[in-house]
Amino acid sequence: MAQLWGGRFTKETDKLVYNFNASITFDRKFYEEDIEGSIAHVTMLAAVGILTEKERDDIIATLEDIKREVENGTLEITEEYEDIHSFVEANLIKRLGDTGKKLHTGRSRNDQVALDMRLYTRKQVEAVDGELKELLETLLHIMKENTETVMPGFTHLQKAQPITLAHHMGAYFEMFKRDRQRLSDIYERMNYCPLGSGALAGTTYPLDREMTAELLGFYGPTLNSMDGVSDRDYLIEFLSALSTIMMHLSRFSEEVIIWNSNEYRFVEIDDTYSTGSSIMPQKKNPDIAELVRGKTGRVYGALVSILTTMKGIPLAYNKDMQEDKELSFDAMDTAKGCIALFNGMLKTMHFNKENMKKSANNGFTNATDAADYLVKRGVPFRDAHGIVGQVVLYCIDKNIAIDDMSLEELKAISPVFEADVYEAVSMETCVNTRLTIGAPSKSAMDKVIAIEEDYLANCTKIGKKK
Ligand code: ARG
Repeated sequence: MAQLWGGRFTKETDKLVYNFNASITFDRKFYEEDIEGSIAHVTMLAAVGILTEKERDDIIATLEDIKREVENGTLEITEEYEDIHSFVEANLIKRLGDTGKKLHTGRSRNDQVALDMRLYTRKQVEAVDGELKELLETLLHIMKENTETVMPGFTHLQKAQPITLAHHMGAYFEMFKRDRQRLSDIYERMNYCPLGSGALAGTTYPLDREMTAELLGFYGPTLNSMDGVSDRDYLIEFLSALSTIMMHLSRFSEEVIIWNSNEYRFVEIDDTYSTGSSIMPQKKNPDIAELVRGKTGRVYGALVSILTTMKGIPLAYNKDMQEDKELSFDAMDTAKGCIALFNGMLKTMHFNKENMKKSANNGFTNATDAADYLVKRGVPFRDAHGIVGQVVLYCIDKNIAIDDMSLEELKAISPVFEADVYEAVSMETCVNTRLTIGAPSKSAMDKVIAIEEDYLANCTKIGKKK
């Protein structure tokens, strides 16, 4: 049991207590950030005259050795250490003796862990943003190819009006684009450095907090040391953004599952992204989409967990905050994995354009347009609605589409119908007369696609704004 704080104790910690208290099994994940933070710290300590240049160089070289050895497997992070901070410091002291003991000057594990967690989360924000960008590229590709692929749009899962596949994909493009904007906002707010906050009240050493902030790529130091050690807002915001991303992916998964069903057959998930049944030989299941939908819950769980952990904590650091890690790490890994897998599934998915078109034709998705046709010929909308209602009833009875009715049949219901009605209610007309920006017509979609293309080509890398 390697602890940093044995001095004032006369008895060994109980083994169960030690294990309950330790965090090495999960905070080992940020050994790299811990070392990165320590290197910045000693660089600054030397700059302000607390360490000699030799001490600084020895410590940095040894920290880099430790990092390399952890990476190539020659140095194992074992459970004999309480946490990753103790592991790094103990190994440094083992190799450097008294010089190693100077690393922690002017620092507490409270600002150290606050820094490590922030550095780790910042990398994750960037990684998730990168995954989302790739997903947006896939979506834009599908949009470009399908501005004329007619399909039914739904409300209440009932066929409503014809749209195109490009339009449907465009809705998800907007959602994931907003998700990226949220990540960028979070990055801007979180990118301040808590190192130098000490245990809670700063330190009496003349630390240069501006310098460590800059060395670590932050915009500047945090402005209150109590807040610096106990702020986890950025994590809550990130988990909230991840929850929203998962909610979007889950809705999308639900649609893919429906579209891939035997009844719809709008899409076929590629063999490489499908799974079979151990008993039913005919099965090809959308397990990936179902798992993405299913995993949404654990990301929400991480958000609710950290919100609940934080709500009762008085200032400043309290051990409860160690609970910010395990579920957050899981949520970050889950969300990243889900975005990447969903993207792969989407990229390889086959769209059955014929089935989509047939489904739009057979579902009275042009009924609104038939009513609008009558309105344009002087029939008040409410009456037109009633007339087309009768038309639909007639079609249901005969099991045909509106366009399948003869002009005599139509005229028997309303004499206002003329031969040009067929052109007016064709799927292509229904889609392509919806011209306003945001609507599904090819001309409106082409404009949107140009905007999105420009966005993807010019969006700056997250955090590079300042
Ligand atoms: N493992 C701890 C955490 O994750 C590190 C900070 C320990 N600080 C302390 N005062 N016990 O929060």
